Amino acid sequence: MDSPAPAQHAYKLGHSATEVRRLELQARYIGGFTEDILKRARLVSGMRVLDLGCGIGDVSFLAASLVGPMGDVRGIDAAPGAIDIARQRAASAGMTSVHFDVAGVMDFDFSNVDAIIGRLILLHIPDPVQLLARVASTASPGTLVVFHELDMSTARSVPESPLCTKGLRLLIETFRRAGIDPDIGSKLFTLFRQAGLPDPDMLLAARIEGGPDAFAYQYLADTLRTLMPLAQHLGIADADSIDIDTLTTRLRDEIVSLDGVMQPPAYLGAWARVAHSRR
Ligand SMILES: C[S@@+](CC[C@H](N)C(=O)[O-])C[C@H]1O[C@@H](n2cnc3c(N)ncnc32)[C@H](O)[C@@H]1O
Repeated sequence: MDSPAPAQHAYKLGHSATEVRRLELQARYIGGFTEDILKRARLVSGMRVLDLGCGIGDVSFLAASLVGPMGDVRGIDAAPGAIDIARQRAASAGMTSVHFDVAGVMDFDFSNVDAIIGRLILLHIPDPVQLLARVASTASPGTLVVFHELDMSTARSVPESPLCTKGLRLLIETFRRAGIDPDIGSKLFTLFRQAGLPDPDMLLAARIEGGPDAFAYQYLADTLRTLMPLAQHLGIADADSIDIDTLTTRLRDEIVSLDGVMQPPAYLGAWARVAHSRR
């Protein structure tokens, strides 16, 4: 049943048309990494899957393609606007094994599923250990737990492009000042342990792109565009001087003129199964 999203679940990047478009492009850019992680974690045909912080549905759709018609995927998100879009996308793709509900992840019922998954959700949760500990203590033994997060500090250009460095600094500072951990990916091992989950298997992947057609320039500029109101609200110094409307072109020109490459943030996957009770 849909219920209004509690204020503490507010997604700091919002779900404007710009952010929805960015999420779609991002999903295409990193979807292969997520699919690889889900396959390695053994998300297989027939499983019942819960996708936490599903946004507009891309990870749920990936999961649905892996669990097939015998499986079932439920995506939950605190933002009603994102869930509306996810439902519309599922309906227009004729997908019947995937469902979406408005719900906060912190107080959700984690029983009766075979897998609990999420991408880019833990960084937005004020206390990710608390969430994982609830998963560890309330999901059935053997439930697969898979999270896919990122490390923003790994992003760089080689050789260094001053404009890229400025953009990345602005991005990381905005996240930090907003209380979002920009490097939660490499902390997943520790977070799983602290929550009482078994030590996870982990994998890291990053794109590296150069030349005039790389998407990496737009990826950085689009992410900064969606963060700009937050950066300005927080009074972050470089926010007004980055000239967001021309940033993609200037980044492309600078990196191409350096004959360089851009490496967007690395994405890290972690997976484990809820342990059987030791009693
Ligand atoms: C970066 S988006 C990721 C969306 C999707 N998982 C993907 O990878 O495309 C993060 C999503 O988490 C949702 N979210 C944040 N905090 C939440 C909470 N406490 N409960 C439910 N959803 C939450 C936001 O509304 C947002 O849609």
